[in-house]
Amino acid sequence: MGNVGILGVGSYVPEKTVTNFDMEKILDTSDEWIRTRTGIIERRFADDKQTTSDLAAIAAKRAIEDAGISPEDIGLIIVGTNSPDMRYPATACLVQDKIGAKNAAAFDLQAGCPGWIFATTVGAQFVKTGMYKYVLTIGAEVITRMMDKTDRYTYVLFGDGAGATVLGNVEEGGFKSFELYADGSLAEYLTLPAGGSRLPFSQEVLDKRLHYTKMNGREVFKFSVREIGRISKNVMDKAGLKPDDIRWFIPHQANIRIIDAGMKRLGIPKEKVVVTIDKYGNSSAASIPIALDEIYREGKLKKGDNVLMVSFGAGMTSGAFVVEWSK
Ligand SMILES: CC(C)(COP(=O)(O)OP(=O)(O)OC[C@H]1O[C@@H](n2cnc3c(N)ncnc32)[C@H](O)[C@@H]1OP(=O)(O)O)[C@@H](O)C(=O)NCCC(=O)NCCS
Repeated sequence: MGNVGILGVGSYVPEKTVTNFDMEKILDTSDEWIRTRTGIIERRFADDKQTTSDLAAIAAKRAIEDAGISPEDIGLIIVGTNSPDMRYPATACLVQDKIGAKNAAAFDLQAGCPGWIFATTVGAQFVKTGMYKYVLTIGAEVITRMMDKTDRYTYVLFGDGAGATVLGNVEEGGFKSFELYADGSLAEYLTLPAGGSRLPFSQEVLDKRLHYTKMNGREVFKFSVREIGRISKNVMDKAGLKPDDIRWFIPHQANIRIIDAGMKRLGIPKEKVVVTIDKYGNSSAASIPIALDEIYREGKLKKGDNVLMVSFGAGMTSGAFVVEWSK
């Protein structure tokens, strides 16, 4: 059994750009507040007719093309998302149909913003065991529809998008270490309370706007800064690598202050850190594969580069891995 690596990558962000100045028109907020507190300048919003599976399917087709295989070759599709098209069926099944991956099994994986990190970690195990030759892992969100337009605290933070990767065996390089983590005792810090078995939809839910995301920003911030440092160090230790051995750090794009604080703790220079939050805001499970695709398409990613990707989010969860780029 060979090593497992990333054979193809692709992403998609919707056309519609919403700037902080646009936010000023609908909320009691300012460009200055959003920029200095979060690093966000603008974000993308899906078109009214676009769903998460639409975004995911575009990113997936690009990744499959990049891998040089056809959709029928895919054995398994895992979609990491917090904004599925519907409560069920799984968005992954809708993606399977849209891209014509008729031989693939498909399921969603709900792990907060690290959804794509979790999906990719799970997918890699299936390749490693030989159960599937090619696994498609996707982080896709129309997360802005889960946000309350009247809540300045959350609405300004998020954006939509999708990123996808094809996993398979590689001769050189590939994944060197993984780590996944959850602490459910902190679950209440970031929730979308209604629409599940705990609080089914009702008039009261709508009146209290419980069908939208609720967040304790300060607690999420503290958890995120702690986890970004802790779990990144763990995956470097497991891989026998030091920060100097890592060429690119791709952290989840939630807040530039979280990224800066986390990277400072690890002693990582800014030139090695990929930042897209200024353009896309927090696109939840899509943020890392979009950022990966961007540096890949810009030609910054070279064969042999060690890349560390790390994420944190609702659950609370965190996850990270190191992959040696093999393309
Ligand atoms: C949300 C977040 C940006 C808030 O930043 P903060 O520095 O913690 O801000 P505070 O919560 O202390 O609020 C400071 C003030 O700004 C106000 N404020 C909040 N949102 C605002 C906005 N969009 N525009 C203007 N003012 C705002 C608050 O009401 C508060 O005012 P007050 O002092 O008069 O009460 C920050 O906590 C954060 O990024 N947390 C992590 C969130 C996250 O990453 N979530 C996703 C995880 S995957």
